[in-house]
Amino acid sequence: MEMKGKTVLITGSTDGVGRYVASELSKQGARVLIHGRDKARGEALLNEICLRAPYEGAFYLADFSSLAGVRQLANSVLAKEKRLDVFVSNAGIGSQNNGPQRQESADGFELRFAVNYLSGFLLAHLLLPLIKAAAPSRIVNVASLGQHPIDFDDVMITKNYSGSRAYSQSKLSQIMFTIDLADELKGSGVTVNSLHPATYMNTTMVRAGGITPMSTVEQGGAAILHLVEGDDVAAKSGLFFDGMNEMKANAQAYDAAARKRLRELSLRLTGLAG
Ligand SMILES: NC(=O)c1ccc[n+]([C@@H]2O[C@H](COP(=O)([O-])OP(=O)(O)OC[C@H]3O[C@@H](n4cnc5c(N)ncnc54)[C@H](OP(=O)(O)O)[C@@H]3O)[C@@H](O)[C@H]2O)c1
Repeated sequence: MEMKGKTVLITGSTDGVGRYVASELSKQGARVLIHGRDKARGEALLNEICLRAPYEGAFYLADFSSLAGVRQLANSVLAKEKRLDVFVSNAGIGSQNNGPQRQESADGFELRFAVNYLSGFLLAHLLLPLIKAAAPSRIVNVASLGQHPIDFDDVMITKNYSGSRAYSQSKLSQIMFTIDLADELKGSGVTVNSLHPATYMNTTMVRAGGITPMSTVEQGGAAILHLVEGDDVAAKSGLFFDGMNEMKANAQAYDAAARKRLRELSLRLTGLAG
């Protein structure tokens, strides 16, 4: 895909691999919509991008630990943007950000499920009219190889909590959503794929987990950019990639009944049902 003149929203782009992808796409002439929860960092990045490239961008502020914040972001984008060619759902917290204890969102949901999965689920649905209008267009869900099946009797992990389980459950949820949404979008000209960008990139979430980084944001960023603009994936949808390569996800992703349960729960929790 030729990115010049295209509009791309990348959530969580004031840090880490999202920041790298935003910067690269702006160099290619895309109108980049930066999202973050820190106004000063967002505006600083926007200035940096606009100084370097003669292209416009915009910064959108929203904290995804509240679904009201996600709705506000969607409303601002729908009000201000004329088109949306690519939506990269990238914002996320790692297994150990803010400590190993179980945490909840403003809406009372397990925090990783809410920030890493539900916010992207809600945002994708709210932005779909704009994304569909720009078809051929793409949605890219930044998930992970870290995947844990959902226990539908305890989705909010009130028992046997660990940050790693919570993170991995949220990432598998993104992959399950990708498969479902691809089905829903058949024939619309919108594709949706998910990926594991790279293993232990040198980013805040990896460092917060006390893990020694094994790869760079440039490596993970290249895999995300492949799904954003690669011609070889233009017609592919509903797939999971490990870096550049198509890969099978956890078995629960291919269980249609589990996906249906997750979809119904997500529609209810986000207020989209009905
Ligand atoms: N690092 C890896 O090795 C790795 C591997 C597989 C998958 N991933 C995935 O890659 C994506 C990017 O992660 P990263 O490694 O680049 O980590 P990162 O540097 O920690 O960046 C995460 C981004 O998400 C934002 N974010 C976190 N909580 C938020 C909230 N409540 N509301 C709004 N934004 C929020 C952060 O904003 P702040 O800057 O304000 O915190 C930041 O911009 C994540 O989805 C992650 O799961 C990463």
